[in-house]
Amino acid sequence: MARSSRRSSGWGLTCFSVLLLLFLISSSVAVKHHDFKRCDQSGFCKRNRALADSMTEKSSPGSSPYQLDAASVKFKDGRLEGSIIKTVQDTGPVKLPLTISFLERGNVRVIIDEEKRRKGEVELRHGSVARKERYNEAGAWALTGAGLQSQKSASLKKISKDVSEVSWGPDSRFKATIQHAPFSMEFWSGDDKQIVLNGRGFMNVEHWRPKIDKPAADENSTQEAASTPAEDESTWWEESFGGNTDSKPKGPESVAMDITFPGYGHVYGLAEHAGPLSLKQTRGGDGNYDQPYRMYNSDIFEYELDSPMTLYGSIPFLQAHRTDSTVGIFWLNAAETWVDITKSTHGGNPLTLGLSGGVVDTHTHWMSESGILDVFVMLGPTPKDLSKSYGELTGYTQLPASFALGYHQCRWNYVSDEDVKDVDRKFDKHNIPYDVIWLDIEYTDDKQYFTWDPHTFPDPTSMEQQLDETERKLVVIIDPHIKNKGGYFVDEELKSKGLAVKNKDNNIFEGWCWPGSSHWIDAFNPAARAWWKSLFTYDRFKGTMNNVWLWNDMNEPSVFNGPEITMPRDNIHHGDWEHRDVHNINGMTFHNATYHALLERKKGEVRRPFVLTRSFYAGSQRSAAMWTGDNQANWDHLAASIPMILNQGVSGFPFGGADVGGFFGNPSKELQTRWYQAGIFYPFMRGHAHIDTRRREPYLLGEPYTSIMAKAIRLRYALFPAWYTAFHEASTDGSPIVRSQYYVHPGDEKGFAIDDQLYLGSTGLLTKPVTAEGAESVDIYLSDDENYYDYFDYTIYNGGSKTHKITAQLEKIPLLMQGGHIIPRKDRPRKSSGLMKWDPYTLVVVLDKDGEAQGTLYADDGETFDYEQGASIHRQFTFASGELKSTNLGAKGAKTASYLKTMKEVTVEKIIVVNAPATWSDQNEVSVTGEGIKGSVQAELIYHGPAGSKAAWAVIRRPGTSISSDWTISFPETSSPKSEL
Ligand SMILES: *[C@@H]1O[C@H](CO)[C@@H](O)[C@H](O)[C@H]1NC(C)=O
Ligand SMILES: *[C@@H]1O[C@H](CO)[C@@H](O)[C@H](O)[C@H]1NC(C)=O
Repeated sequence: MARSSRRSSGWGLTCFSVLLLLFLISSSVAVKHHDFKRCDQSGFCKRNRALADSMTEKSSPGSSPYQLDAASVKFKDGRLEGSIIKTVQDTGPVKLPLTISFLERGNVRVIIDEEKRRKGEVELRHGSVARKERYNEAGAWALTGAGLQSQKSASLKKISKDVSEVSWGPDSRFKATIQHAPFSMEFWSGDDKQIVLNGRGFMNVEHWRPKIDKPAADENSTQEAASTPAEDESTWWEESFGGNTDSKPKGPESVAMDITFPGYGHVYGLAEHAGPLSLKQTRGGDGNYDQPYRMYNSDIFEYELDSPMTLYGSIPFLQAHRTDSTVGIFWLNAAETWVDITKSTHGGNPLTLGLSGGVVDTHTHWMSESGILDVFVMLGPTPKDLSKSYGELTGYTQLPASFALGYHQCRWNYVSDEDVKDVDRKFDKHNIPYDVIWLDIEYTDDKQYFTWDPHTFPDPTSMEQQLDETERKLVVIIDPHIKNKGGYFVDEELKSKGLAVKNKDNNIFEGWCWPGSSHWIDAFNPAARAWWKSLFTYDRFKGTMNNVWLWNDMNEPSVFNGPEITMPRDNIHHGDWEHRDVHNINGMTFHNATYHALLERKKGEVRRPFVLTRSFYAGSQRSAAMWTGDNQANWDHLAASIPMILNQGVSGFPFGGADVGGFFGNPSKELQTRWYQAGIFYPFMRGHAHIDTRRREPYLLGEPYTSIMAKAIRLRYALFPAWYTAFHEASTDGSPIVRSQYYVHPGDEKGFAIDDQLYLGSTGLLTKPVTAEGAESVDIYLSDDENYYDYFDYTIYNGGSKTHKITAQLEKIPLLMQGGHIIPRKDRPRKSSGLMKWDPYTLVVVLDKDGEAQGTLYADDGETFDYEQGASIHRQFTFASGELKSTNLGAKGAKTASYLKTMKEVTVEKIIVVNAPATWSDQNEVSVTGEGIKGSVQAELIYHGPAGSKAAWAVIRRPGTSISSDWTISFPETSSPKSEL
């Protein structure tokens, strides 16, 4: 939740007057642009854009001053090392050590450092205690260590004065050519050029230099200025913004590179931004942005849509896509980063960007304020390959506890423990399932985390016990700012143990946040993380039971009186790194510390922790879920949430959602209802609302809205097995949980810019949420030449590059099933997912045009880590030649047998076959064989013929098959059915 709006100060009386006044002066209805930098207000962004302009200047383009010293090149065990020499007019050459590692899966890692800084042969100004090296630990936080082994089979094919060439990969399929002067690199797959580094000469490593105080320029002698185009030094040594001054003890130190994708017309990724999935151009022109995409984790109050402005989290990973190939870039840098994107067309009609034969190249320009230059080049060649490879590098998404997939009910704030109990009862009264209820900051005693307000939450345990009766959970918020107050034990310990972030003078940093004056835990420090752990044990965090989990907000970090609402860049973290170097990782170290604390609340109690974070970085997927922050209750924000969530999937952090209903403002009943119908397709589904909004629990809206929302939530719960299977997939191969059109149909150019419809995992379920007021239909695009069926009534829609209008009155969710899939469900309505554990399954078999289908199911206890030792069910279902089979995909482990024993009684209670062949019309039986079945048994088959535009379907009730064993169901006729259309 964001900074407080005008009417609701969360500030407490002590600090009320002065600061509130400061905020009121600048308060307005929308995002405060003047709080956040544009490129031309950020020294290094401005300098690097100017450099780019000078390189592309038509009349006298600049030349890149970087060259690889051929004599320095050493190649061994798949790794090339050498020195890049930067020629600098005044001070002579600067040496930049280069390492290129040729890795598995067509990945290459290029690292460029600065020798003088590495050796510490530099002076920092203002007596700064900061480290002299360039920050080189982003990888230590973001990477898992997997996928980094260089390929010994890579070979240096040739090296001449001008160029080196390396080949690697299967059949030496991949090739890198390195131009020595100026330094640039081309990456090839077969005969196709895929990615070019520094092809346009925008590479920039701002080397360390001493500050020389020049005499004030003689304003009358214009001669000198005209002859040497002096660099603009105005932002080298100090920068001020919004009344804050950055002391910049290291001077200018940015790193930048241009990266071109020849023939690639679309790029995706760079979460988190509120804009289209296919990223826009950023250097002006009709419909384009005029600012680069910015990544500098920020608490943006009332963010703006269709904008490259930074938001709360940053993942500097990008996928470039064309019909036959997908490649990627992972720019491993934790400092403020801007990315410019432009496209150019050659051949064909220049106005249509590729659609009519011309070839589009996409050019990107990456700029980071500090750190080493560390970039992964990834050659794909499919979106799935990239997900896998990026997931291998930074970790796959966690397999969450299953309750986390349920519906979460939140608001700022449930006002008392009695209020929570009452909401809990009302959900039951209205038969609306939910799994988790949430408490925002007001539950604390005076914004002191790890305490409860004694007046409003006198008895938290009885509240938690009531929730536990229906296996429900409580999530409470704990933020990284710790109230600066004598006698508050958390602050006392933080100070006495020296575990807080320090200011530039190396004293404890003090700033303002919800509690007023605050200190910030420095989770980069292992001692701080160990201490954090100690705070969560049940005897220290009194009033918590084992069904209490965590929400980490404001971890960008948000500092109300700091520059751009965050910490000063010259603050000092553990290891004496400046905040500027680590800013984008800060939030991750904090939510990860909470995750690890929750793992060890009690000895022997090992369960998968749930932590929600607002701020994130590459790697956050390993220990948290995210949400898109403080959105607004309007239709545009509802629509914007779809591409944002899809982009989270592309960016390897798919466990995300947007506040259902919208955080700020009061949604109309129609908007709220539509938002629930869309929200059931967010991997993380939470209703949330600002403290100034009207109460809006779904049961409060009245009919027909309450029933429609309840029905939507029940659909989410019915599809729980499909969701859990999709999460499992994400946790093993990095694939998005909800998937965009280009991802599912990478060869269909018509879908590349579509970002308002989505597939759920590999289930073939395709939805197009209604995001417009008063809409009674949606247009849905079907790419492949297969039939799709309405989820509810089996109306047939034929695919093959067709757009269909689907009627969608308020009660209707546009949801289709692609032919060829088997979808697992659980159809019995329950109060929470925990109560569905032993419920039987329904399988929906959607036959494709050839009368075949397949699907998978993953299930486990949803709670412990026993699945890592084989305590799971992983089934493959196939329908072919008139037989439906269940076979095992799981590997046996130490805990497989005992788990399967607990699942023995869980059966398939119903099988629905959509697009059932007409030959079944006069049949009424199927025969079932399998493990634990003597001979074969018969089960009843009921056939429903086609009706109008609706497909034929059949149902088998109680086939008597277990969900965990092998079985075969033989249908009456084995010939392939012909499709009805
Ligand atoms: C620059 O020239 C102006 C006009 O001739 C004069 O008034 C001024 O003193 C000169 N400034 C310097 C620094 O010589
Ligand atoms: C997460 O916390 C664990 C335990 O303290 C630590 O080993 C690991 O480095 C942390 N990772 C991140 C990304 O913060």
